[in-house]
Amino acid sequence: MKFIAGNWKMNGSIAALRNMAAALRDIDTQNKVVLCVPYTMLGVETNGVSLGAQDVSAHDHGAYTGEVSANMLKDAGAEYVIVGHSERRQYHGETNDTVRAKAAAAIAAGLTPIICVGETMDEKQAGKTMAIIESGVRESIPGDTNGKIVIAYEPRWAIGAGLTPTSTEIAEAHTLIAKTLESMGLGGTPVLYGASVKGGNAAEIMSIPHVDGVLVGGASLKPDDFIPIITSVK
Ligand code: 13P
Repeated sequence: MKFIAGNWKMNGSIAALRNMAAALRDIDTQNKVVLCVPYTMLGVETNGVSLGAQDVSAHDHGAYTGEVSANMLKDAGAEYVIVGHSERRQYHGETNDTVRAKAAAAIAAGLTPIICVGETMDEKQAGKTMAIIESGVRESIPGDTNGKIVIAYEPRWAIGAGLTPTSTEIAEAHTLIAKTLESMGLGGTPVLYGASVKGGNAAEIMSIPHVDGVLVGGASLKPDDFIPIITSVK
């Protein structure tokens, strides 16, 4: 069983989500499928497909105009929330500390955070990939996870670029993450790979050791692109 999550980013509509839910209803899969959609779509009936948000406030409630709390996400129908996506880190200055606080808020509300880590092109070229991944994992995970977290490794230089690391690079990154989680007492935490996953490469990527699933951006928007990813593995 693999964990296959779509990240719609700022795309789609309620009608598009209804259409996706209808298309997913009849597929034959044991895999866990989650769609992380814009806030406005969280109330849509999806016939058992779990929904997630793409960000959450670190605060409980109060004077934080524009923010949405973890309890509100839960109230609206979310089970998951992506935290620390590279686009939040890049455009909103989120650090491992911010991400940890948001993940803690999500866990406290009973949501499962999908915590993203990954290196930029500059960090990769400076030979810092492994150090960035390890510090990302150690610093972005709250002390008390309640057994409810998912990690996503997303090499930031490969997102939306049609680029993917080699299988060896993905294996090295995921082995490091699995070892780091083990050393933190979090062995068995699912670790997803994300960046330019498509129907044509999904099965190969998910056959790499310690890759428990995928986090899919662009190819999760249309059933014709997303379903082949879900059905590429048992
Ligand atoms: P792409 O699949 O479009 O590269 O996006 C990956 C991603 O950022 C998923 O969170």
